[in-house]
Amino acid sequence: MNAIRYYSKFGHSKQMAEAIENIVDAKAATVAEPLTEPVDTLYLGAGVFLGKVNGAVTDFIASLTPDNVKCVVLFGSCAIIESPVPQMRKALEARGIKVCDKSFTCKGSMGPLHSGHPDAQDIDAFKQFIQSTTQQ
Ligand SMILES: Cc1cc2nc3c(=O)[nH]c(=O)nc-3n(C[C@H](O)[C@H](O)[C@H](O)COP(=O)(O)O)c2cc1C
Repeated sequence: MNAIRYYSKFGHSKQMAEAIENIVDAKAATVAEPLTEPVDTLYLGAGVFLGKVNGAVTDFIASLTPDNVKCVVLFGSCAIIESPVPQMRKALEARGIKVCDKSFTCKGSMGPLHSGHPDAQDIDAFKQFIQSTTQQ
């Protein structure tokens, strides 16, 4: 069984999460929804604000254990820094949770900066990435 969780202030991570529902056979939900049963792969996504992922994401990560999550695939978007993924990876690995080496990040608009992103091409590339993680 798989699960998808995201935190999304402007709908970018939500858009990404919903794009993979059919591929991974799971319903996208926000990090406010705790996992209710053990999962094989958790797909977790977020943006970054003033250099940090939102506290709701770190709170969600703090609720996870290696017993209820076999492995995590991370994704995200941002406008300035390279990726929000390393912050989430660090918090998960500190809890002993296995994180897939591969992750996906695309540009996420911030006002006029990277306007329109994630766009259709970003979403297509993301879907292809997710396909590749399910074929391992
Ligand atoms: C108030 C604000 C602060 C932001 N701070 C950063 C930042 O520090 N670094 C960065 O790379 N992107 C920053 N961004 C861009 C967001 O990370 C980007 O819009 C992301 O796609 C949001 O994803 P979400 O809609 O899923 O929350 C900021 C955006 C806003 C509106």
